[in-house]
Amino acid sequence: MKKEVTLTMIKPFAVKEHNIGEILSYIERTGFHIRALKMTQLAKEKAAIFYDEHKDKPFFNELINFMSSGPVVTAILEKENAVEDFRKLIGSTDPDKAAKGTIRRVFAKDKTRNAIHGSDSIESAKKECRFFFSEIEEFMY
Ligand code: RTP
Ligand code: MG
Repeated sequence: MKKEVTLTMIKPFAVKEHNIGEILSYIERTGFHIRALKMTQLAKEKAAIFYDEHKDKPFFNELINFMSSGPVVTAILEKENAVEDFRKLIGSTDPDKAAKGTIRRVFAKDKTRNAIHGSDSIESAKKECRFFFSEIEEFMY
């Protein structure tokens, strides 16, 4: 199977709870190769662009306020079938519905503070990798 990249972001709540190391370690142990890594904080405007597809949803403001409330850690991850496999690894959006052993089941507090993001398609992954790592030439996309 062809190698693929996906974009992850450890969200502010998980950063605040000191779970960066454990989450990155879990990601590496499950076969993902970290190709780029950055700790940053999203301005509200930037968080709104990232989650633009949800701009008309009732939870949008809460999501944007939360995502800009503190630092995040974002990374490009590489693996065969990375997009689909990483979505499986993080689990359902709502941690109460996330399968046992998934990152959200272990580290999330609730649907907003759900610990981590994962790209939902190959196209989103390409767009999101460029969004955070525009300085990197196209190497695997
Ligand atoms: P993400 O984009 O952060 O990886 O999350 P996701 O694909 O699992 O979920 P998505 O549908 O893209 O929603 C983005 C984020 O919005 C919040 N949300 N709240 N209250 C609600 O019904 C609701 N639905 C979604 C979650 O924080 C979700 O991660
Ligand atoms: Mg999503």
